[in-house]
Amino acid sequence: MKPSQLITFATVASLAAAQTCTVLSYSLAAPLMATGYRSQLVATGLRTPRAIVFDSSGSLLVAERGVGITRFQVGSCGTLQNRQVIISDTTLNHAVTLSADGRTLFSSSSSTAFSWSYDPATGATSNKKTLITGMANSGGGHSTRTLYASISNPDLLLVSWGSDGNLDWGAANINSGRSQIRGFSISQVSNSPVAFNTAGTIFGWGLRNSVGIGEDAGGGIWSVENSADNIVRNGQDVHNDNPAEELNYHYLSTNTTQRGNYGYPECLTAWQVSTLPSNGNLVVGRQFSNLTGGVTDAQCLQRQAPRISFPSHTAPLDVKFDSAGNAWVSFHGSWNRSPPDGYRVAIVPFGANNQPVAPPDSTSGYTNIMQNPDNSRCPNNCFRPSCDEHDVEDYHYYHYYHYYHYYDNDNNDYDYDVEDDYSDDVEDYNYYDYHDVPVDDA
Ligand SMILES: *[C@@H]1O[C@H](CO)[C@@H](O)[C@H](O)[C@H]1NC(C)=O
Ligand SMILES: *[C@@H]1O[C@H](CO)[C@@H](O)[C@H](O)[C@H]1NC(C)=O
Repeated sequence: MKPSQLITFATVASLAAAQTCTVLSYSLAAPLMATGYRSQLVATGLRTPRAIVFDSSGSLLVAERGVGITRFQVGSCGTLQNRQVIISDTTLNHAVTLSADGRTLFSSSSSTAFSWSYDPATGATSNKKTLITGMANSGGGHSTRTLYASISNPDLLLVSWGSDGNLDWGAANINSGRSQIRGFSISQVSNSPVAFNTAGTIFGWGLRNSVGIGEDAGGGIWSVENSADNIVRNGQDVHNDNPAEELNYHYLSTNTTQRGNYGYPECLTAWQVSTLPSNGNLVVGRQFSNLTGGVTDAQCLQRQAPRISFPSHTAPLDVKFDSAGNAWVSFHGSWNRSPPDGYRVAIVPFGANNQPVAPPDSTSGYTNIMQNPDNSRCPNNCFRPSCDEHDVEDYHYYHYYHYYHYYDNDNNDYDYDVEDDYSDDVEDYNYYDYHDVPVDDA
């Protein structure tokens, strides 16, 4: 891990105390934080917050499903204030990202990506444009279209379109566009909209549902993939501890070469090798087939494997990099395993080469930072992180990471849709959490 000094809980607490902050209180159990980290509730009453980004004035923009895009001032104690609906559009269901110059805002519906001119001083939006079309899933599959505007390549907008259902065999056809991340020229699609599957650079295909996209300090693109449910190998049910969820690498933002096939739907990644039949050639992080027709294990070895694997069904929904170079991953949590897993935030330590420190066959390539005290209360009565973001407060002395998550309290409204984004449970009551971690305290 790159050096990242954390000041202690006590020090943070004394700083906060000096400001006489009023802190919101939880109705559910507060998250357990790893040593050196603390969390604080910063807002309540949001509607299904799915993505967040800070603008250049330090305001936080939130994609609230069922509302549109809202904007908050961040108070001196971290509490979100002055909620302002800057785009009222109930069809926007997941994304918010800003161009490198901070003056263009992007969001998406289940079929279409849009842009607006954005004034960071006031939050005013104007000049709505349709950029990318044709991303609806006819079978009612994954509904979110994650957007990420690159910093290192300011003309690049990355767009993720997930599979139409759990095992979408049609996604094996590259021309379908599904289970892919593509990169589009912002200037070109702003002049003339394109259908996703007819344009752009393929940054990866065979990606079942890559909900989180991030960019490392060297301009490398990364995503977190939600892998398949209820899987079978050689006729045997192996779903509880397989396949792995994935952290995938997509090379530099400026690389215009078409990327490879990352496996899905024919090839999935091993997490618990011991419960897979005919496992002689398998290790953690290696891709395998179902052994019942079509693609073989040997062919799966030709697919692009993840750089780091995570436990099955933990549902990583976001990956963002801190200024020390490490990746923060938000795990929304499982429905397809027992006992439940996920519902936490982890850091993947990266080295100076902007690659994970752990090798691809590691089961410990991440460190949990924030967890529920009791996952057996999940998913209904625990926190479920969906997105994260950090903000640099002081370049010269130390940096603060503002981390936000939400959890749901949807009582009887639970319909097994919590994992990797089938969720459209707008009745949920959502809370934000605030994570305030100084690092590089040099
Ligand atoms: C560009 O991406 C391709 C994958 O399609 C990769 O093989 C190649 O090494 C990348 N180029 C550089 C300079 O990283
Ligand atoms: C096994 O995978 C192949 C593709 O490699 C697919 O055609 C077949 O339907 C799958 N069988 C089962 C039982 O899922």
